[in-house]
Amino acid sequence: MRYGHFDDDEREYVISRPDTPLPWINYLGTEDYIGIISNTAGGYSFYRDARLRRLTRYRYNNAPLDLGGRYVYLRDDESGAYWSPSWQPVRRDLDDYECRHGLGYTVIRSRFAGIHAEVLYQVPLGETLETWRVRVTNTRETAASLSLFGTVEFCLWDANDDATNFQRNYSIGEVEVEDGVIYHKSEYRERRDHFAWFACSEPAAGFDTQRDAFTGPYRGWDRPVAVERGACAGSVANGWQPIGAHHVRLALAPGETREVVFALGYWENPTDRKFDPPGSQRIDKRLVRPVIERHLRPDRVAQAFDELRGYWRSLLGALEVDTGNEHVDRMVNAWNAYQCMVTLNLSRSASLFESGIGRGMGFRDSNQDLLGFVHLVPERARLRILDLAATQLPSGGAYHQYQPLTKRGNDAVGTDFNDDPLWLVLAVAAYLKETGDRGILDELVPYDSRPGTEATLYEHLQRSISYTLERTGPHGLPLIGRADWNDCLNLNSLSEMPGESFQTAPYRESGVAESVFIAGLFVLAAGEMAQIATRRGDGREARRCGAAAERMRTAVDEHGWDGAWFRRAYDRAGEAIGSARNAEGRIFVEPQGICVMAGIGVEDGRAERALASVRELLATPHGIMLHQPAYSRFRAGLGEISSYPPGYKENGGIFCHTNPWVMIAETIVGDGDAALDYYLRTCPSARESISEIHRCEPYVHAQMIAGRDAPTHGEAKNSWLTGTAAWNYVAVTQWILGIRPDHDGLRIDPRLPTDWGDVRVTRRFRDTTYRIAIRKQRGAVARVTHLVVDGRVVDGTLVPLPASPGGVVVVEACTEPVPDRRPMGPG
Ligand code: GLC
Ligand code: GLC
Repeated sequence: MRYGHFDDDEREYVISRPDTPLPWINYLGTEDYIGIISNTAGGYSFYRDARLRRLTRYRYNNAPLDLGGRYVYLRDDESGAYWSPSWQPVRRDLDDYECRHGLGYTVIRSRFAGIHAEVLYQVPLGETLETWRVRVTNTRETAASLSLFGTVEFCLWDANDDATNFQRNYSIGEVEVEDGVIYHKSEYRERRDHFAWFACSEPAAGFDTQRDAFTGPYRGWDRPVAVERGACAGSVANGWQPIGAHHVRLALAPGETREVVFALGYWENPTDRKFDPPGSQRIDKRLVRPVIERHLRPDRVAQAFDELRGYWRSLLGALEVDTGNEHVDRMVNAWNAYQCMVTLNLSRSASLFESGIGRGMGFRDSNQDLLGFVHLVPERARLRILDLAATQLPSGGAYHQYQPLTKRGNDAVGTDFNDDPLWLVLAVAAYLKETGDRGILDELVPYDSRPGTEATLYEHLQRSISYTLERTGPHGLPLIGRADWNDCLNLNSLSEMPGESFQTAPYRESGVAESVFIAGLFVLAAGEMAQIATRRGDGREARRCGAAAERMRTAVDEHGWDGAWFRRAYDRAGEAIGSARNAEGRIFVEPQGICVMAGIGVEDGRAERALASVRELLATPHGIMLHQPAYSRFRAGLGEISSYPPGYKENGGIFCHTNPWVMIAETIVGDGDAALDYYLRTCPSARESISEIHRCEPYVHAQMIAGRDAPTHGEAKNSWLTGTAAWNYVAVTQWILGIRPDHDGLRIDPRLPTDWGDVRVTRRFRDTTYRIAIRKQRGAVARVTHLVVDGRVVDGTLVPLPASPGGVVVVEACTEPVPDRRPMGPG
């Protein structure tokens, strides 16, 4: 069942009823000022850091789930009836409702009792504010007298304190109301130079800033007393819960439309210009005032909207495809790329599943996210790489997370996730291939953010490689440390204390527990590093990496292969995990994907054998499960993985992040059909018609879909902030479509599904635009034999770099049918 539809021309998802299975959200803002907004206007805003600079309050895990938002109310002043155009929080049945989530904006429209309302929510580019443009139309035959209210509930900045430290919070709230603008200035009297403001384009009939005065005691946002009686109280908050509420009266003739703009913003004053007059406690508003006035003007709002649309159009123009498959086209051309940009901004910090006060920027997460946006914003990718490398330790290891505001490693979570440093190599390799900017390798970057420890980024990469080589176990495989990619496979920390974090539980390196996954990742990373070193003229490093990769391959051959698939790990007693010897957890997906991606077993048939095992034992119609059988009971020796009920999360859930690895592996063994088949199983757009089962947004990937062992098999959770976004993007664009940036040019080596015909792609690459047509006979399995580049025949699959960049290059990729070398197995 569907709750809406895609509008592909507008790049919008149109939700046609407010009661979606879960709140379906979108993000406002492209850089410093970010907002989450649900299809019923729930959500919150923050400046840069969802924990430390939160502007508005949100109550996670509430009943109803989604509470706190950018709420607008309308009241018919004749009948006294009132409603919210976004349905929530009043939840009065509307005659009509539609929410359009677009790229960086959301529009909610509805009709009630002949009054049509439309609210456009957006964050203008480059600004630290948001605007809500409310258009109210009287479609009645008679005149209408209406009251319109716009409201926010302020958060007292640190979202964690705000939700816990009430003995202080209830006394510190302060506001100012001046010329119709509400200023939230809690803690401005002391060390903060920033405040929030909430303003309205129309002269106000009233305002409130104390929550209880607006809602009424023992009442909520669903039926505020001020709305009910049609008048605010003019309250000024002293302590308790400061809010912003503006009341506007509208008299509308039949057919008349009025536009009212509400704006909410963040402002920082220079430290020496906080107060006006100096010595007073009143905010100096001379700098912010013109900004407020400008953004309340309807013409400015319209212009900002055009700019925003233009920004996304040009950004996503970097890669556009026409494959004939509607799911692939709309995900690649809009939603998947958009989601990758959101993960750039938010990492794993703020969504409806991430509270904004928990996790910082993950080292491995952010390195992988980069794979999905490096072609869109290479300058930001460059900065991200340097930030990440600065949290690397002299050992080559890395802080598992860092704080976005301070960019320093997070001591509480610490280090010793032994896969972490290798992802940096993959990220830098992707950046180099995309941009050719070898200069980045000479950038001086500190270790552990400590001045005086600077070394070149190239040396950081060398240390990443050495880190693994210096930490191998009895089988010559990499030691797993606290965990590898699977945060929950904790083989060295025995936690017996309820509630203790498995990731930070006391940890003792056994020197025995090894990871086959890291071995595969190492072979992949060492191969990339050898290429980087060769291009740098460092033959010695290239040989070191080449030889190390060979030794690691041999270790995997000897101790990582189980007979029909790759093993997962060895535990602290040296026993295999992910082996036919195990009763539970016999086969894991991660090593099957990553080892094949590293080329292990591709020549001798083991890769195909492993992938057949995945299909037989792990694949479900809803995606590929992490392992099977799921662990039926808790096993302290395995850590968090077995703490989850079977079928959820890391205990045999469909952890979507890993599925694209298998898709890539399938293309490597030549099976584009299998790759697309897996792609569609977890693809949100392809699951739109089962929204009542999937439940999360049909336009973005989710981290997890419940596995076969779970009673809710097929139900997704944790949408938006997941490495699933970047990896799906890579799998479908670089491997199925085969358009892969390389050090010396653009590779075009697709593994198109049999029933596809010609494919057209526009790709911006190093300032040149490539218009690519892949010619393929429908019904055939085909490989590129040669290219025709601007009319010239080029053998092979690499489009060489043009003599001078900046122009348009026309490429025709010619294919020839090949025998179908691998029939599809059971699914
Ligand atoms: C979460 C983490 C990621 C980890 C994955 C598997 O998505 O953010 O770092 O690799 O879980 O445990
Ligand atoms: C929890 C989650 C896992 C995540 C980890 C790190 O263990 O289950 O998915 O990767 O936390 O924060």
